[in-house]
Amino acid sequence: MGSKQTLRFDFNNMMADSIDSEHGITDRELKTIEPLAARFAAQLKEERAAGKLPFLDLPYDKKTLTEILQASDNLKGKFKNLVVVGIGGSALGNIAIHTALNHPFYNVLNDKERKGHPRIFVLDNVDPDRFSALMDIVKPEETLFNFITKSGATVETMSQFLVIVKLLQDKLGKNYANHVITTTDGEKGTLRDVTRREGFLSFAIPSGVGGRYSVLTPVGLFSAAMSGVDVSALLHGATYMDEACRSGNMWENPALMGAALSCLSDTIKGKNILVIMPYSHALSGTADWFCQLWAESLGKKFSLKNEIVHTGSTPVKAVGVVDQHSQLQLYMEGPTDKVVTFWVINKFNHEVVIADKPDVEQELAYLKGHTLNDLMSAEYEGTRLALTEQKRPNCTLIMDELSAFTLGQLFYLYELQTAYAGKFYNINTFDQPGVEAGKINAFAILGRKGFEGRKKEIDAFLQRAQKKYCIE
Ligand code: PA5
Repeated sequence: MGSKQTLRFDFNNMMADSIDSEHGITDRELKTIEPLAARFAAQLKEERAAGKLPFLDLPYDKKTLTEILQASDNLKGKFKNLVVVGIGGSALGNIAIHTALNHPFYNVLNDKERKGHPRIFVLDNVDPDRFSALMDIVKPEETLFNFITKSGATVETMSQFLVIVKLLQDKLGKNYANHVITTTDGEKGTLRDVTRREGFLSFAIPSGVGGRYSVLTPVGLFSAAMSGVDVSALLHGATYMDEACRSGNMWENPALMGAALSCLSDTIKGKNILVIMPYSHALSGTADWFCQLWAESLGKKFSLKNEIVHTGSTPVKAVGVVDQHSQLQLYMEGPTDKVVTFWVINKFNHEVVIADKPDVEQELAYLKGHTLNDLMSAEYEGTRLALTEQKRPNCTLIMDELSAFTLGQLFYLYELQTAYAGKFYNINTFDQPGVEAGKINAFAILGRKGFEGRKKEIDAFLQRAQKKYCIE
């Protein structure tokens, strides 16, 4: 994938050459699936041309980009806080961009240090204590609320909407609508109806783009623009990766190769846990974003032929170096069921010299002259080597630096890789029936009209479950 400002995918340690053929993939195994991979790439190209995969064309949507930039420009300096309310794919992209590209302690900076951009908060969970604590520290008159829900009816988001709108109305009267901006389906849904009625400023989520593929729509881009992130560069990075992943030859297409390797590791080598381990604290939110994308897209009961298949590898986030002191023991010596993907940044924004003084203790003298950057890098290299020696497959995505441009590439790479992986598993990558089941149960428990039958079943289940096997 080239050099400066681009990504490099090193998968040497996934291969039998580096580990062994019990745990690593052989050249022969890779060769065997090359024609299949080429076929999947051709299918995806056709589906894209037929307009079935609109998320792949999002980075080229100049009209929406202009709308976002205009809105954030108009709103600049008017609010001290921006509170994003959404969940799943309607929250994780915001958190990923904010964590990766803004100051690590952004919300603690003063207005001048934030260059007039608002503090950013994301409310996804409906934990009443967390919700109330945030409402205690943001004044309604200084706050803009961005409610994001594709379906326009998600219970977590809409319940917080109802509470916040009441708070705003009580405090601000008719003017309250100036403090609300909605991001939802352009045509339908409860939130779209309310938006029309109340005249909220609003963005449309393009139809056919599901939550977990929506980071490069106003879902992720509006809060990014409001905090001063260069959203044009994010989109440019995505188009760059699109160009880098056009080939049907997996040796020239990192997304296709990544999908092939993870699916082979899962299905023929028994590695059904996929650890994402960024050696960058800033990428921890992006690892969460990836975990949701991978889990919800690939964890499926039925194949496209309607056979029961129970597909998917389980994504797990581990942050380097922190999780070397938590998870790594398990990855080294526990079950041989994992593939570790490292994300590494060559050049951090800062260099911190560790011991620039003459009287360093003998025991610590080896650190003299080194930097925290050297330490981060040595720990990654050390871990990578140790895993490889234990025959634990691992690969690395290397970025020269973390910028809006490289983050845009990363988003696109993994969205595409996930779509390819869905082809290998032969499942519907873009639905989430398992999530729907949980939602339906919650509606029934809360007494929503139309769910009375389900409510009876749940009551019976709860009664049964309460009788046995419980220690107080
Ligand atoms: O990726 C998905 O489709 C889901 O995680 C959704 O984003 C999540 O369930 C929230 O849905 P909505 O945006 O409709 O509120």
